Amino acid sequence: MSTPDITLASGHAIPQLGLGTWMLRGQQCKDVVKEALELGYTHLDSAWMYENQDAIGQVLKEVGADRESLFITSKIWHSHLEYEATLEQMEEILRDLQTEYVDLLLIHHPGQGVPVERTLAAFEKIYEAGQAKSIGISNFSIEQTDRARAATGLPICTNQVEYHLRHNREKLRRHCHAHNVVLTAHRPLAQGDLARDEVLKQVAAEHGKTPAQVALKWLLQKDMIVIPKASSTAHLRDNLDLFDWQLGAEEMARLEGVEADPD
Ligand SMILES: NC(=O)c1ccc[n+]([C@@H]2O[C@H](COP(=O)([O-])OP(=O)(O)OC[C@H]3O[C@@H](n4cnc5c(N)ncnc54)[C@H](OP(=O)(O)O)[C@@H]3O)[C@@H](O)[C@H]2O)c1
Repeated sequence: MSTPDITLASGHAIPQLGLGTWMLRGQQCKDVVKEALELGYTHLDSAWMYENQDAIGQVLKEVGADRESLFITSKIWHSHLEYEATLEQMEEILRDLQTEYVDLLLIHHPGQGVPVERTLAAFEKIYEAGQAKSIGISNFSIEQTDRARAATGLPICTNQVEYHLRHNREKLRRHCHAHNVVLTAHRPLAQGDLARDEVLKQVAAEHGKTPAQVALKWLLQKDMIVIPKASSTAHLRDNLDLFDWQLGAEEMARLEGVEADPD
């Protein structure tokens, strides 16, 4: 079953499930991305900092991927948030990915010393040049999101933040979604740690699914985008098998009540 899309504030559609690629590098990255494309993934989450965009670019070329049918996200690292540095890093991203544009460009982390207005001015230039179809932010708080929204005439389409069953950031989600900034849940499986959770195990058994699948489904039913990283065939397949079944309201409530990890 194909992945449903969410329409972003830019008017472009993003597949609600993507493949996370952090920690995938070199030949392993190429093998995993190639297999994911064969299995039907159409959305890849990458970043300059992951040092794998050259591998992704090579595999897309080798398999003759239809660029228009893919959704690729990249992110500008916090060393490059000044106007000229952002433009330079963008050139490197496009060169490595061997593409003329990314579908979504994010500020990877809020800047420590650089006002967001300066980075977003560069994003506007990138957008006007057709090098990014949509723009967004990552790891931004409510206040930082509002400042970014006020800093540009372009819509801030997504905020990519850590979000999983034990890190349920409902206030941030409600605020962002009320302003048409869709949350993308990064680290949606708590890097694999959730598979042992008892509530997840119970709900998973009721559906004949795995705890990881239920953890992802809970996020999807909260209208978020999810980008689990997987490198094994079994995990790649499991994470695609999320769209022809539903969690009931009572199950969603039980999962909502799972205690958060202490910060
Ligand atoms: N914006 C940011 O600052 C930021 C920060 C962190 C992450 N991210 C993005 O979010 C993506 C996901 O986060 P993450 O990679 O940190 O962690 P994650 O997706 O929460 O967890 C990945 C781990 O879960 C395992 N896994 C995957 N599918 C599974 C399944 N169905 N059942 C059981 N285990 C499963 C993987 O194993 P195998 O590899 O063995 O299959 C891997 O060990 C990253 O790759 C990156 O693209 C963004």
